[in-house]
Amino acid sequence: MKIVVIGADGQLGTDICEALDKNKDEVIGLTIEHIEVTDIDSVSNVLKEARPEVVINTAAFHDLEKCEDEPLRAFEVNALGGRNAAMVCNDINAVLMHISTDYVFDGEKRAPYIETDKPMPLNVYANTKLSGEYFVEAIAKKFYILRVSGIYGKAPCIGKKGMNFVKLMLKLSRERDEVRVVDNEILTPTSTVEISNQVVKIINSHVEYGLYHCTAEGSCSWYEFAKEIFDITKPDIRFNKAAPGEFAVKVNRPEYSVLENKCLKDRGINIMRHWKEGLRDYLAKE
Ligand SMILES: NC(=O)c1ccc[n+]([C@@H]2O[C@H](COP(=O)([O-])OP(=O)(O)OC[C@H]3O[C@@H](n4cnc5c(N)ncnc54)[C@H](OP(=O)(O)O)[C@@H]3O)[C@@H](O)[C@H]2O)c1
Repeated sequence: MKIVVIGADGQLGTDICEALDKNKDEVIGLTIEHIEVTDIDSVSNVLKEARPEVVINTAAFHDLEKCEDEPLRAFEVNALGGRNAAMVCNDINAVLMHISTDYVFDGEKRAPYIETDKPMPLNVYANTKLSGEYFVEAIAKKFYILRVSGIYGKAPCIGKKGMNFVKLMLKLSRERDEVRVVDNEILTPTSTVEISNQVVKIINSHVEYGLYHCTAEGSCSWYEFAKEIFDITKPDIRFNKAAPGEFAVKVNRPEYSVLENKCLKDRGINIMRHWKEGLRDYLAKE
């Protein structure tokens, strides 16, 4: 299949391109130098020339603090970017796969969220990502929205100064005698390799269009995630939980954002493994 990946040099885009390539798809990887998702003319010109069957949009403005400072820019990239991609995908009869986030929820449920649970975003980033979902649902004739969570991959996370949580923990464990991590946010860390394999599976299964939760199995706090990283890498450090309020949180975020891949499971195509398995594979290659 001929597939365009927008954000091809990003953390997730890099691994999606690799997985599609391995699957022998014809991949056209686009970076910000080729396409600006906020500009309908750019999206239209580039996609109409490429004429793909599927467009995967990983582009996002996702630095939480910057999104609070620049809400219009956040809306342009995260919401209007999805709208523009949806409009042009209709014109060229392509399927749009749009990447969204676990942060659309407020965490009050305290049990894994399924696709029919009502979102309640807590910050600008989450609000604009949810708006992007709504644009895609309202406009695109053929679409998949994938909500992912706590992602880490080998390529630098461009929107977060190159760092993901695993890389940050490895860096801190090399630089410090003690590392302290918060224990009050529960999520599901998910390797971009796992998501990319699931993306290939969804596209090739031709399952019904719609919204899909797409995270690893299981859940943990950031502290438990770091503990697993250090149990595997065994750095010579003291490792402790941070005291409540030790790290100032400038942007509201859900304290619980675990997703259940209910729709993938209902359709018999969930291949996401436990988060610890994805982490082991990732660290083996770091
Ligand atoms: N990181 C996480 O933990 C996490 C969690 C949940 C959901 N997500 C979602 O997962 C997706 C992928 O995240 P990621 O970690 O792979 O991000 P990333 O590494 O920052 O990659 C994002 C890519 O989008 C491109 N991009 C940004 N603005 C653009 C624009 N206006 N037009 C065209 N391209 C643009 C970036 O290029 P430039 O930077 O060069 O402009 C970059 O290649 C995003 O939709 C994000 O919201 C991420």
